[in-house]
Amino acid sequence: MKRIVSLTNNPIGVFDSGVGGLSVLKAMREQMPAENIIYFGDQEHVPYGARSMEEIQKFSEGITQFLLDKNSKLIVVACNTASAAALTYLRQRFLDVSFVGMEPAVKPAAEITKTGKVGVLATPATFQGALYASVVERFGTGVELFQDTCPGLVSRIEKGELDTDATRTILENALHPMLEKNIDTVVLGCTHYPFVIPLIQQIVGKDVRVIDPAPSVAKQAKRLLEADGMRSISDTKGNIQYFTSGDISVVESVLPKLLQEDITVQQVFWEDDRQIVA
Ligand code: DGL
Repeated sequence: MKRIVSLTNNPIGVFDSGVGGLSVLKAMREQMPAENIIYFGDQEHVPYGARSMEEIQKFSEGITQFLLDKNSKLIVVACNTASAAALTYLRQRFLDVSFVGMEPAVKPAAEITKTGKVGVLATPATFQGALYASVVERFGTGVELFQDTCPGLVSRIEKGELDTDATRTILENALHPMLEKNIDTVVLGCTHYPFVIPLIQQIVGKDVRVIDPAPSVAKQAKRLLEADGMRSISDTKGNIQYFTSGDISVVESVLPKLLQEDITVQQVFWEDDRQIVA
């Protein structure tokens, strides 16, 4: 039995280790403009990619509780790393809550590749998790996958460095060897990476397809809300609240590069590994 949320105008809770989940939020905004959204960026702990599963589970639990305390009607884990490390854990821990998570888009990539060679960019924790292994097993048959963790890329994007030389070098180091192997498709397995699609496309050329999973995650969230009768019935644009556990001024300075809307950022703090206070 799912938790009954009587107010269709309750917000959707969305979280990521940092600003990456805003790529998913953007797609949600396009598909469901009337929904109110509460976004949590765990800038205090970003990047998640090199952390242990246990740590990511604790953070994800604390954030989920925070979003539920703010009456979220659905939780979108807009982070591949947190989905890989903690989605199963969260579903067991919060039995009556609906979650939407993410997995690297190997399935659509396998369907469209002509060379049979696909590059996947994601964090170490995502590649190590059982979720990725299961995606590869289910959908990767007959396709050769080339993986890279793009060290340092998440931190660059957190600083708003979407087209600096350093960001380009990280991407070239990941993509050039893949191009030599004749990939024709790149899967973005980290929600930060859609913000550097223009740079990626410059490096790989226009004939290589870059798959951003955000629109299908937003679609899944919409489908779930519709199935549960929880879509907003408002005819005005919903609001967005952004909470960060990190440095508010850094987040505020980066946001205009990532989103075309003005949103205010509110500060929260971790009290311990599982609890957040305003
Ligand atoms: N945005 C993230 C993801 O989708 C997390 C990156 C990180 O914090 O390492 O995997």
